Amino acid sequence: MSFDLSVIPHKNIILAVTGGIAAYKSAILVRRLKDYGFDVRVVMTQGAQAFITPLTFQALSGNPVHTELLDPEAEAGMGHIELARWADLILVAPASCDSIAKFANGLADDLLSTLYLATKAPVWVAPAMNQQMWAAKATQRNLQTLVEDGVHVIMPDAGEQACGDVGLGRMPEPEDLARQVAAYFHKAQRAIAEKFGLLAGKRVTITAGPTREAIDPVRYISNHSTGKMGFALAAACYAAGAKVTLVAGPVSLDTPNGVQRINVSSAMQMLDVSMDQLQQGCDIFIATAAVADYRVAQVAEHKIKKAGDELAVSLVKNPDIVATIAQQQQRPFMVGFAAETQNVEQYAAGKLVAKKLDMIACNDVSRPDIGFASDENAMTVFFAQSYHMNKRELEKASKQEISQQLVESIADALRRRL
Ligand code: C5P
Repeated sequence: MSFDLSVIPHKNIILAVTGGIAAYKSAILVRRLKDYGFDVRVVMTQGAQAFITPLTFQALSGNPVHTELLDPEAEAGMGHIELARWADLILVAPASCDSIAKFANGLADDLLSTLYLATKAPVWVAPAMNQQMWAAKATQRNLQTLVEDGVHVIMPDAGEQACGDVGLGRMPEPEDLARQVAAYFHKAQRAIAEKFGLLAGKRVTITAGPTREAIDPVRYISNHSTGKMGFALAAACYAAGAKVTLVAGPVSLDTPNGVQRINVSSAMQMLDVSMDQLQQGCDIFIATAAVADYRVAQVAEHKIKKAGDELAVSLVKNPDIVATIAQQQQRPFMVGFAAETQNVEQYAAGKLVAKKLDMIACNDVSRPDIGFASDENAMTVFFAQSYHMNKRELEKASKQEISQQLVESIADALRRRL
């Protein structure tokens, strides 16, 4: 499983290293945690320093390493209570038998055991030891106590050990541990968004990209839409706590993290999938797709051969997807987009009424600096009369920022509707 790093919040991790040969893996663990954007401070016990030097961790973490409970110099920098408060999570890896026993019995005779008692942050331990020591009744009893005290115990791996034994007791690989920490914060962040985000719990369907209307098996009619706006909006809606389905025409963009994507090609397919989404439950429908207005009346079964100087292809009108959805009885909150080259506001406001939308966002595609393939956009948003707010200007900004402003506008309007 991979993560979109931008959705993992910035967090402070204390990596506590205790005495054990697996301490060498902790050096790589610092690296991997930093890859996820975490700020890492390392605490080492006396035992750990027999295996690896504080200097190694200092260089890798970019922070001073903490080793002493009552070192006046360290206390002047970040004392043990401050350190305990600084941490969003304490990961003890490797966790020795001794450190586990200390935690289980509430000892506080060194920096780590004191931190353990002084912190409110979640504590994770990754035990690593000889398989016989792991299996010892006292160790298992202590681990049970830790679990009951709310500590998260990461099970050791089985395999060949440094001492020559084979069995349970190997510390999981650093990549694995770092990924578990990232997943924990990722899930915590998601749970908050789903509960308190601007679109918490809302089901959103977004159409995006162009459609392709086949002429024959090898040719089609399409347009230059890249889908960037729809994809950016999908990401913003997801970040705001919504469950998002993206009905995407043929575009070469990565699916935003957490978003369900359904690929379609033609306008008719886009309509079918959109209606399907409506059946499954949809609170907000956002139409960013540049749907082809016409499709070929009779798609040729075989490749059309070059013949005379002219070729006539007859076109028929495609259904208007957003207007069709807006006509349904259980209609969601409807958001349309309008790309115009002249009389931008007048045409957009007209479409708002004609398509029975709740909101329409329009932009001037005659401006070379915004729209279609550009990464930036500027928009004017109009609301249906019942919302008692006529329009809102969104200043030129990245499509990500514009998406965020659009999410705010949708949430505003929804609040007014309720
Ligand atoms: O009429 P026009 O194409 O300018 O309207 C643009 C808006 O209508 C966009 O939100 C677009 O996604 C939507 N639309 C649609 N189905 C069509 C044509 C446009 O959903 N066939």
